[in-house]
Formats: sequence, structure tokens, C-alpha cells
Amino acid sequence: MILQKIRVRAAADPQHIVLPEGEDARTIAAAEMCVRERIAKITILGDEEKIREAARSVNANLNGVEILDHRRSADFGKMATLYHELRRAKGVTLEEAEQTVKDPLFYGNLLVRLGRVDGSVAGATNTTAHTVRAALHCIGARQNFKTVSSFFLMVVPNKNFGANGAMIYADCGVVIDPNVSELAEIAITSADSCRALLQVEPKVAMLSFSTKGSAKHPFIDKIVEATKTVRARFPELAVDGELQADAALISAVAESKAAGSSVAGYANVLIFPDLNSGNIAYKLTERLTGGTAIGPILQGLDKPANDLSRGCKAEDIADAVAITAVQSQARKIS
Ligand SMILES: CC(C)(COP(=O)(O)OP(=O)(O)OC[C@H]1O[C@@H](n2cnc3c(N)ncnc32)[C@H](O)[C@@H]1OP(=O)(O)O)[C@@H](O)C(=O)NCCC(=O)NCCS
Repeated sequence: MILQKIRVRAAADPQHIVLPEGEDARTIAAAEMCVRERIAKITILGDEEKIREAARSVNANLNGVEILDHRRSADFGKMATLYHELRRAKGVTLEEAEQTVKDPLFYGNLLVRLGRVDGSVAGATNTTAHTVRAALHCIGARQNFKTVSSFFLMVVPNKNFGANGAMIYADCGVVIDPNVSELAEIAITSADSCRALLQVEPKVAMLSFSTKGSAKHPFIDKIVEATKTVRARFPELAVDGELQADAALISAVAESKAAGSSVAGYANVLIFPDLNSGNIAYKLTERLTGGTAIGPILQGLDKPANDLSRGCKAEDIADAVAITAVQSQARKIS
């Protein structure tokens, strides 16, 4: 199982991950699990009394888990000043910064920004919009990039697709209607996510309802231009578009519709033109194939931060910690 392999990879070079929702019982159970399995070094944030009470309620042993009562920490003022500096141009006052940094998601992502931890995982008790916004404001986009997006790691039973049945689908969760340069950045960062999570060279398909000029429409022009932009920025990357999904995945179709393509027929990274198509595609794939959809996993941030579903279980949080740790390992090598 791919998630088990990712946990093993995380444990091979343990990273330090902050779990800002430390007063949440599932988060506490996950922290214990991560420390017990040596998936990562864990710091949880929150009121120490509330954390200990929640730990008792789930019989969790917090030995080895660092508890940081961030509101009472000695560096609280410094963190508020840092946030104020980051957001002053947007009209944020020092008083507002102090209020914001009390929110553990913001404090946690400032720890990530400063390199005091390697990544963050939150969203068990906060909405996706709030969790993503905290990461955008405190960590921001990777150097030379502007777009933070997300991907799903899809695993389908038919091992002929992608890398032994595993593929990257993007963006299915964050950027609603990407323009040309945003779509290009989604493709480039998805290629990196493929290397980091699947450990194979990416073959990136820019998907459309047209293959190589079979139809004409401004929707298609966006995909063609984004493909050109990716090639101009990363000439060595195997990327092709515009391609229909069958031409991207089935070699017999690729031979007739996109002969000579280095990607068509063997794509392991599928880039969708907008959030409608991406979100629909991942849910259809999961339900119709009996496959697994892991995510959304954020990409394009300067350092890793990930969002959970509010219905998550402790096991899901531990998996997200392992994924975040593997993303951090990959960023340190690149
Ligand atoms: C992610 C999301 C919450 C960001 O919302 P937003 O309203 O743009 O957030 P903010 O206005 O607080 O923007 C924060 C900053 O990040 C920037 N930003 C927003 N989205 C960004 C992105 N995808 N990449 C990089 N920067 C981004 C904004 O430009 C803004 O910058 P500034 O404050 O320095 O000017 C929003 O895009 C969203 O809701 N996406 C859809 C999520 C969703 O519903 N998914 C459902 C399927 S899971």
C-alpha cells in the first residue's frame, strides 16, 4: 500500500512537523502514533491544560510529543512582529497581527517559515479556506513561483496506468479557474510532486477536449499556451498538450491521435484546465474504478503545509504527516 511506503520513507529521515490543532483529540492520537512509529518529530500547539485533558480522553501517551503553548510562549511578540512585517503592506496593524498569531494555524505556519519546523498539518477542525489562507499568508509561494495549488495522489487497481496504477491529478482543490501562467505553474509543481511522492520521472499531460488541434476554442488556446510556457521554463520536462484523456493514457489511442508524443499513452501526471474538470475527474476515477484518492495535498508553497478533511481520523492525520515529511525531504534535496 502506497501510504505505508510513504510512512516508511518518512521514518527513514524524520522531519519535524507541527500540528497546530493540538487541542483536538484525533490530532493528539495522531501525534502519539507518529512518535511511536517514528514517522516524524511532532510539536503540537495549544493550551497545555486542554491538551492534557483531551489526551486523557483518548488515553494518549504524550511522551516524546513537544507541547507548545504558543499564546504564552516567550517568542509570541516576535512572531506577531514577523506577521506584521509580512502583512503590513496589506494594511494589517500590529494589534491585528497579535490577534492573528494567537490562531495556532498562523503561528504554526510562521514556525514553518522560520525553519524551526519542516512542515505543518491542520484542517481537522478548520475549513480548507482558513487552512490554505494561513499557509498562503505565513509561508507563501515557492521562490520564482506565484501559484499555490493542490493535487490528489490517485491509485487505481489497473497497474497499467501511470506508475504501477499511481498518478498525480491537479488541480482538483484550490485554483478555480487558472490563467495560462497559473496552469503552467500547476503543471511544473505537479511534476515535482510526482518525483517526490511517486519517485518516478513525470510525464505530464495537459488535458483538454481536443488532441493536437482536433478542435478549436479559446478554452483550448489556454492549454496550448500553458504547455508552451512549461516547455520554455523547463525544456527537459516531458510535457505534452493539448491531449484528450484517452490519448494521454492509452497507447493505442495515442498512436493514432498524438503520434511521436513523449507523454501520450503513458502519462502519470494529469493536468486539468480548471477546478470543475479536476474535481469531477478525481471523484469519478475514485468511484468508478474502486481506486483511492489521497489528498488534496498542497504544492507550490515555499515549504510544505497540508490541509485535512474535517471528517478525518487519527490515521488520516498520521498519513498527512508522512506525506508532508516526504515533501520536506524532497524540497531539501532539490
Ligand atoms: C484557497 C483560497 C481559500 C484562497 O482564498 P482567497 O480569498 O484568495 O484568500 P485571500 O484573499 O486571503 O488571499 C490571500 C493571499 O494569497 C494569494 N492567493 C490566493 N490564492 C492563491 C494561490 N492559489 N496561490 C498563490 N497565492 C494565492 C492572494 O492573492 C492573497 O495575496 P495578498 O493578500 O498578498 O494580496 C481560495 O482560492 C479558495 O477558496 N479556493 C477553492 C477551495 C475550494 O473550495 N475547494 C473545494 C474543493 S476541495
